[in-house]
Amino acid sequence: MESILDFLSQISWWMWVLIALALVAFRDVFLQKKHTISHNFPIIGHFRYMLERIGPELRQYLVANNREELPFNRIERGWIYASAKHENNYEGFGTDRDIYAHQHIFINNAMMPYKLENEHPNAIDKTFLPCAKVIGAYNKRKKPFRPASVINVSAMSFGSLSAKAVESLNKGVHLAGAYHNTGEGGLSPYHCNGGDVIFHFGTGYFGVRDKNGNFSLAKLIKLVEDNPHVKAIEIKLSQGAKPGKGGVLPGSKITEEIAKIRHVEIGKDVLSPPNHSAFSNVPEMVDFIEQIADATGLPVGIKAAIGKLEQWNELADIMKTTGKGPDFITVDGGEGGTGAAPPSFADHVSLPWVYGFSDLYRMFKEKGLTERIVFIGSGKLGFPAKAAMAFAMGVDCINVAREAMMSIGCIQAQICHTNRCPSGVATQSKWLQSGIDTSLKSVRLAQYFKTFRKELIEITHAAGYEHPCQFKMSDVDVNVDDHNLSKELDRTYMYNKTPVPFKSMQDLKDCIYLSGKSNN
Ligand SMILES: Cc1cc2nc3c(=O)[nH]c(=O)nc-3n(C[C@H](O)[C@H](O)[C@H](O)COP(=O)(O)O)c2cc1C
Repeated sequence: MESILDFLSQISWWMWVLIALALVAFRDVFLQKKHTISHNFPIIGHFRYMLERIGPELRQYLVANNREELPFNRIERGWIYASAKHENNYEGFGTDRDIYAHQHIFINNAMMPYKLENEHPNAIDKTFLPCAKVIGAYNKRKKPFRPASVINVSAMSFGSLSAKAVESLNKGVHLAGAYHNTGEGGLSPYHCNGGDVIFHFGTGYFGVRDKNGNFSLAKLIKLVEDNPHVKAIEIKLSQGAKPGKGGVLPGSKITEEIAKIRHVEIGKDVLSPPNHSAFSNVPEMVDFIEQIADATGLPVGIKAAIGKLEQWNELADIMKTTGKGPDFITVDGGEGGTGAAPPSFADHVSLPWVYGFSDLYRMFKEKGLTERIVFIGSGKLGFPAKAAMAFAMGVDCINVAREAMMSIGCIQAQICHTNRCPSGVATQSKWLQSGIDTSLKSVRLAQYFKTFRKELIEITHAAGYEHPCQFKMSDVDVNVDDHNLSKELDRTYMYNKTPVPFKSMQDLKDCIYLSGKSNN
């Protein structure tokens, strides 16, 4: 034994390296059959796999230019990070964008901006920007709701996001006066930290389902009674990243906590089918909406990504003839995010936000229905200039998902589907979450929302208006290569927005439905 150890100790380090490489080469050629590249190019073939693995990070940090990356480029991410940290979010020297590029958006500024008087609510609070419409007002719901912020947190469930992330978002919306959409994973304790909540459910009816997975009205009524911070209900028809795609929640992911929140069995696979079992056609959906609104008193809306318009046409006709229907419609763009989706869906199914929203709004406008609906938009709209365009097109509020994630630390690693999110935002790993300080992150979310609102108000004033709801389609141009050819939004998308009734910011501030005040 001693002589063996003696012999081994005489082998120099570089001989050990050679032995190790020889073993790897032997394994590559003779023992493994999975990888042709490492079989044909033993040892050096491994570099290909290594580089492939770290390629995205190398490109993100070293190679990609400031405006190149998708879904969010470095300038966009940097603006969110700096705004959330209350750091200097300006850029020096001028824009680095090619403002002559095709499809570039220009907001037409007024010769003289809107003038703020000393007593104006925005002279007192530069970030005060509530929704100009009251959700549920037209349908005379018992508990109408005017969102106190035009920017809010979009649907993302506890399960796709970590407990610490959901808690940070909820505390953050509380600080910013915004609302927090639960996503389809049910109402968790992390959604109950002071912020207004929109309870959202999909075909799995998580949190409001019976033993067979069907919708339970009794459970929804109880949930609303027990949680007065739930201000509205959203029925998910589809989302931009994967419309019409069902899903399976694997039993292995169903912990005791998730089972309790979602009302499912521990350890058993749960199906979210592509279709709702509570209704199977448009008239039944309208009845379902009315049934929920009557039973809970809350405004009820639907969320969808847009493709074909036939069933939307049918919905509009029913709304016109019966006077019933959703109080709000959330239009998600095909560019929307997700915790996990097949690329074929994420890349190709459903229209980008601008096309989908303009098709839908134009159709509702032609039927004279736009005034009674609150339109919410989501799909990379969490930037003030883009939001101004969306307001010009007819939205009343913006929902943000990934922008909100970034404000609390997401680094766009794009591995939400692996449970290995390095920032702890989209993972259930206790270790990865442990770095999140919810008090700090909630302030970051709030700061991002407030900066967004402040800059959106400033752009609005530059265009001569008091509130972004006053933006008209003709206030925004889309570049088609020459100014003489550039077309305003109304000529590009062939409709004019219905003017939103608006008196003044003071009037919104005094509204009894602001943030659902009168229901508390
Ligand atoms: C991690 C994650 C989870 C999501 N979960 C849901 C969900 O449960 N229900 C839903 O309708 N949309 C869900 N979405 C879509 C978002 O609510 C939103 O519509 C979409 O990401 C577009 O907004 P964004 O561009 O600001 O991210 C999710 C998105 C992400 C990134």
